[in-house]
Amino acid sequence: MDKKLRVAGQSDVYGEVRVNGSKNSILALIPGMCLGEGSGIIKNSPVISDIDAMREILRELNLEIHVNGDEINIVGEIKNRKLSPKYVSRIRASNLFLGVLLSKFGKAEVPFSGGDRIGDRPLDIHFYIFNKFGITTEVKDGYINCQASQFPYEGQKVYLRYPSVGATENAMFIASTATTPSTIYNVAMEPEIVDLSIMLNKMGASISGAGTPVLHIKPAEKLMRVEHEVIPDRLEAGTFLFLLSAVRGKGIIKNVVPEHLLSAITILSDAGIDIKYTDDEIIVDATHAINVSPLNVTALPYPGFPTDLQPFATVFASTCNGQSIVMDSVHRERFGYLNELRRMGLICDHKYDQVSILGPQNLTGTDLTGLDIRMTMALILAGIIAKGESTIYGIEHMYRGYDNFINKLSDLNIHAKIDFE
Ligand code: EPU
Repeated sequence: MDKKLRVAGQSDVYGEVRVNGSKNSILALIPGMCLGEGSGIIKNSPVISDIDAMREILRELNLEIHVNGDEINIVGEIKNRKLSPKYVSRIRASNLFLGVLLSKFGKAEVPFSGGDRIGDRPLDIHFYIFNKFGITTEVKDGYINCQASQFPYEGQKVYLRYPSVGATENAMFIASTATTPSTIYNVAMEPEIVDLSIMLNKMGASISGAGTPVLHIKPAEKLMRVEHEVIPDRLEAGTFLFLLSAVRGKGIIKNVVPEHLLSAITILSDAGIDIKYTDDEIIVDATHAINVSPLNVTALPYPGFPTDLQPFATVFASTCNGQSIVMDSVHRERFGYLNELRRMGLICDHKYDQVSILGPQNLTGTDLTGLDIRMTMALILAGIIAKGESTIYGIEHMYRGYDNFINKLSDLNIHAKIDFE
């Protein structure tokens, strides 16, 4: 039975929400943990359906994964070198099993990964890294077949043409299991990379430079599974930050690392939203924001403004006074949500990787369909600021990435209802 979410335009939004562990971190930590031996525990995991797909992939590899609330326990030994498309096709992060299997066996057969359809998402940087470690890659019948010419690997110096998050993670896996040190240049600097490096170091690797453009990786003799706690989800926190700002509400976002969101905090503060933060809370008071300035924002690799918050910036821009420009240099085609916002009455000018919006504009509620995680959440945000009721289809995407979101909305005095049909 399909689920849909009904939400009416809200006023008087206030309250406190607690952010869960990071989706994008856990989706790299689980494959990372698979590299080790013994029993591993990941704490503060969000309860989201993308993890269900990961669990099935691990089962195919002969690993056991026990989920107990926000704790995940991984045990067992990888036996298979080949994955079927069934679950790999559900999530993008499944391409990290290329790195896992190559690190373990020097051989991998993994179908092309799925995940959000937010434009072309090639894997050439992953393949380039594999090639530098002496691994050949062949694509046949939808499968990526990789074979090492020499195994175990010798450490390498590799420069990435673009700081891809997933490619950096695969490089970390392979370099952590090589025989000599590696240096990887122009890597992703996202907090999720730092989180992964902390866990791999606990497991026995020696990675320095995480959070900077250059990683120095000394391999471990043997990687052992450990206990690790996931960082808070900066993108979930960012969703609430934009929600409270766009609806002119007032609230406290708890269990966050505000430093991970400095780009968003700065952009919104500069527009005229009152935002303060402590070590682990962001306090938003948008109730007095009347003449909010327009945005001029470009999504960039971290520490730039996150592409995963870009759709929310557009929703917020519709409430600003003047001409906003929202651009995405990471996923240049991530503007599919605009068609749905247009159905709510948004007038905007979209050219290739940017959209301009002359605000303020009044959106009106209607039937909407989300096709990926952040698009679906942007439509929910738009429904919350619009006049009248919206019905949002594609709500399974919300469950893929957001833990307990409806209850969190009610913590902010926002009443949304899930219906079945
Ligand atoms: N790219 C290439 N070649 C590659 C790899 C990437 O051209 O070999 C390009 C992509 O096409 C894209 C850009 O580089 O235009 C960034 O891709 P990246 O590899 O950094 O992204 P990812 O690892 O596939 C992760 C997140 C995404 C997030 C991006 C960018 C996970 C599971 N996914 O994807 O999150 O948008 O980094 O920050 O960690 C989301 O959470 O909604 C989401 C899509």
